[in-house]
Amino acid sequence: MKISVIGAGYVGLVTGGCLAAIGHEVICTDNDAAKIKTLEAGRLPIYEPGLDSVVATARKEGRLTFTANPAGAVAAGDAIFICVGTPPLPNGDADLSAIDRVARTIATEARSTKLVIEKSTVPAQTGQELQRALSVYGRKSNLSFRVASNPEFLREGTAVEDFLHPDRIVVGVEDEASERQLHEIYRPVLERKFHCFAHGGKCADGPLPEWLVTTINSAELIKHASNSFLALKISYANMVSDLAERLGANVDEVLHAVGTDPRIGKSFFRAGIGFGGFCLPKDLQAFVHLAERSGVDFSMLKEAEEINHGRIHHFMEKIKRALWVVKEKQIGVLGLAFKPNTDDIRFSPAIDLISALVSEGAHVRAYDPEAMERARASFPHLKYAESAYDAADNAEALVIATEWDQFRHLDWDRVRESMARPLILDGRNLLSAREMKAYGFEYYSVGRPD
Ligand code: UDX
Repeated sequence: MKISVIGAGYVGLVTGGCLAAIGHEVICTDNDAAKIKTLEAGRLPIYEPGLDSVVATARKEGRLTFTANPAGAVAAGDAIFICVGTPPLPNGDADLSAIDRVARTIATEARSTKLVIEKSTVPAQTGQELQRALSVYGRKSNLSFRVASNPEFLREGTAVEDFLHPDRIVVGVEDEASERQLHEIYRPVLERKFHCFAHGGKCADGPLPEWLVTTINSAELIKHASNSFLALKISYANMVSDLAERLGANVDEVLHAVGTDPRIGKSFFRAGIGFGGFCLPKDLQAFVHLAERSGVDFSMLKEAEEINHGRIHHFMEKIKRALWVVKEKQIGVLGLAFKPNTDDIRFSPAIDLISALVSEGAHVRAYDPEAMERARASFPHLKYAESAYDAADNAEALVIATEWDQFRHLDWDRVRESMARPLILDGRNLLSAREMKAYGFEYYSVGRPD
């Protein structure tokens, strides 16, 4: 099938690359001409494990092209995926102006009937507005546009895997033709019949994805309801963690046992310095606003947001207790990205923590395996280390802010010897307290007995 993807950010690139990988002919466009140039030159503007080989192979086989010309992209596809950004407005609502712009482009540039699929995260009822915009802007063309919603559940760091082996594919449609077309697009994933890039050609066993057909309004609500629930779950874990600290319990043990109940589930149930990234915080805020506008008091979501905001302050108090005076102390920080396996620093708790340390007068030197370039561009005055060891060198404390796997396996004797004071503050409960103490560190983490 010929497919157009509008927006070559995280979602658009993964969607376009993977749709090409499963056999479709995909053209991807973005209004950032520099990004398209980078992609045409065979480079990726983001770090996402596995995406480079998916994109390179699809391009080599001629199934994936990039263009800076949106009109050309619109004309080429029978189905058009909208993957543009919906960043938060100052009041927390999602800014839908990019979606509106795309609707205008599609309506004016299309020369044949199109299925227009919203993949960007949008508040419920956006589909209706999109349908209306397409009719208004396209009133002279006499073409009909069908609209569908197909929310993404792509986690940064595992997005290729999530696309090719999802638990579920949700499609919000209002007519059978749209459902059939979407089913055809996803058939290779639903039947697991494609060359699996994520597993070197062989797909892992396991249940096939569920095909969930809903109305457009429900599909839009599913996306926000999923991410908001995840945010609630993390904030709940963090409150249990505070209580565990007060009562001398171990939050990891508690959450593991609680999560063993399949009704609750173990995943996404870790305490730490809070959730960040470009999706969870913004989706939570947008959902709160949507509820308010709809006259529904969903204040428990606000509570989850407040709890999350408080995490940095809570951890800073721990750092202050350990260091006594923070001012002028050299502190190494491991992690800048909002979570491991990504170079994304947007709304990163690690960055918030560094800002809090710097505003207390600490001399911070930070290191991240992938996010240094982005951090340097956004925070040029911050001091960066060459490696995790360099960050620890001469430091009076080493703070773990992102749970990269490589930080788990450092040469801890070397780290201890190079530090001015062997003190570790683990904001992600990445390490074992027992092991760190055996290595001779003073070690503090979250929700576990010191
Ligand atoms: C999220 C959703 O998970 C995904 O389904 C959606 O489509 C896009 O938004 P992502 O933004 O990549 O994905 O991040 P996610 O994996 O959800 O993590 C968000 C934040 O929560 C990270 O900062 C992470 O460190 C934190 N987190 C996660 C915790 O603090 N505790 C946990 O138990 C899990």
